[in-house]
Amino acid sequence: MFAMIIFGASGDLTKRKLMPALYSLYKEQRLPEQFVVLGVARTHYTDESFREHIQPEETFGTHLHYLSMDPEQPEGYALLDQRLQALTGEAQPDNLLFYLATPPSLYGVIPQHLKSAGLNRPDTRIIVEKPFGYNLPSAQQLNAVYASVFEERQIYRIDHFLGKETAQNILAMRFANGIFEPLWNRNYIDYVEVTAVENLGIEQRGGYYEGSGALRDMVQNHLIQLVALTAMEPPARFTADLFRNEVVKVYESLTPLTTEDLNEHIVRGQYTAAGAKAGYRDEQNVAADSRTETYIAMKIGIDNWRWNGVPFYIRTGKQMPTKVTEIVVHFREAPHRMFSYPGANTLILRLQPNEGMVLKFGMKQPGSGFNVKQVEMDFTYDRLGGIPVGDAYARLIEDCIQGDPTLFTRSDAVEASWRFFDPVLDYWKEHPEAPLYGYPAGTWGPLESEALMHEHDADWTNPCKNLTHTEEYCEL
Ligand code: BG6
Repeated sequence: MFAMIIFGASGDLTKRKLMPALYSLYKEQRLPEQFVVLGVARTHYTDESFREHIQPEETFGTHLHYLSMDPEQPEGYALLDQRLQALTGEAQPDNLLFYLATPPSLYGVIPQHLKSAGLNRPDTRIIVEKPFGYNLPSAQQLNAVYASVFEERQIYRIDHFLGKETAQNILAMRFANGIFEPLWNRNYIDYVEVTAVENLGIEQRGGYYEGSGALRDMVQNHLIQLVALTAMEPPARFTADLFRNEVVKVYESLTPLTTEDLNEHIVRGQYTAAGAKAGYRDEQNVAADSRTETYIAMKIGIDNWRWNGVPFYIRTGKQMPTKVTEIVVHFREAPHRMFSYPGANTLILRLQPNEGMVLKFGMKQPGSGFNVKQVEMDFTYDRLGGIPVGDAYARLIEDCIQGDPTLFTRSDAVEASWRFFDPVLDYWKEHPEAPLYGYPAGTWGPLESEALMHEHDADWTNPCKNLTHTEEYCEL
């Protein structure tokens, strides 16, 4: 029998993301026929009260169980083993999937206790949430711990952005079509923007976020992953290792940050109170003088034949005017300007919401003269039936159950990414006086971030203006 054990089962991630994902797999009969889900956390629940907390749909609830234990202490793990034996009816259950939805401080402890209790069995897998480590040395240490307990084939470092249909579609768009790839390089592309912003604050996660900040929470994993999908070379075949080799190559090609970059090409911000919205420092479990960044914008380069000289601008922030994730590819202007075409071509990959793609180009305005106007050609996922709710976690959990690690982060990728971002963290640590700009909640972040775009005579693309039917997501 298959058993999924969720550490951190009383938390937000379990209720908001993991359970809906499991339920959607269950409903579509994509889970193994015989399965149990065992929630584990310190909070006291019985099976019944845990089910009440989760409020599962229909018969799914009968598969849910709960064990109250402190994952930091070794004692509970023998009980865990006994409980798994009772639930599966097997003397030594092996088909186990441990999911670590706990605070990151427990990522190192749990596998060691699993090992001591003999729960690291050959067919067992473990999914670990991000951020994996809080800098390069800690990630290396964590990788060493995991390697001493499991084989790499059993370790699934999750970055749920890779589970998103639209992130995977970047690969389909680039490599299933003949027309984009010839243009996808420094000869035709001027610069690229990667934006993942949200209109929520940190919700109830002050304790976690204080130790994390936007760089560890979003940039080191999700944003750089999107950069990799946009910038990578086509893998020779679409297999786990060949695909992940190409991701690592992008990370290893990131131009190391210089002091000038650290001073001038990175802008960090923190939201301040505005109207009914609380400021970051007013949030629960946040220090009154916190210097944790809730916004970051930076310019990065990729030193290889395809991308040399093409800047990638990435930004993420909490309490922005809208929630949107998108990549905007700015093509170079036509080499000879015959018409007064207002701007170069852009291709917008909208990952969420209003998932789709827009190509902007110039067309002659009907009538006398030669007035060229910018028009849009767009595709939205609605035409393919839309994106299923909760798709990312469902897809990734299913892949893990089936033993497919393609869309999970390999140990060398995690380390390569930290290697690139560590200097930023070190710089902020060594220079606590480095600017941290306030921005009123509900705005587009510090005005200083606009300066990053000046070399292109441009502003950051306003996502609210991209897809014609997006205004409903904006509160401008
Ligand atoms: C998580 C971050 O990994 O991603 C959160 O910890 C963030 O802070 C979330 O809100 C965004 O994910 P999505 O899928 O809602 O865009």
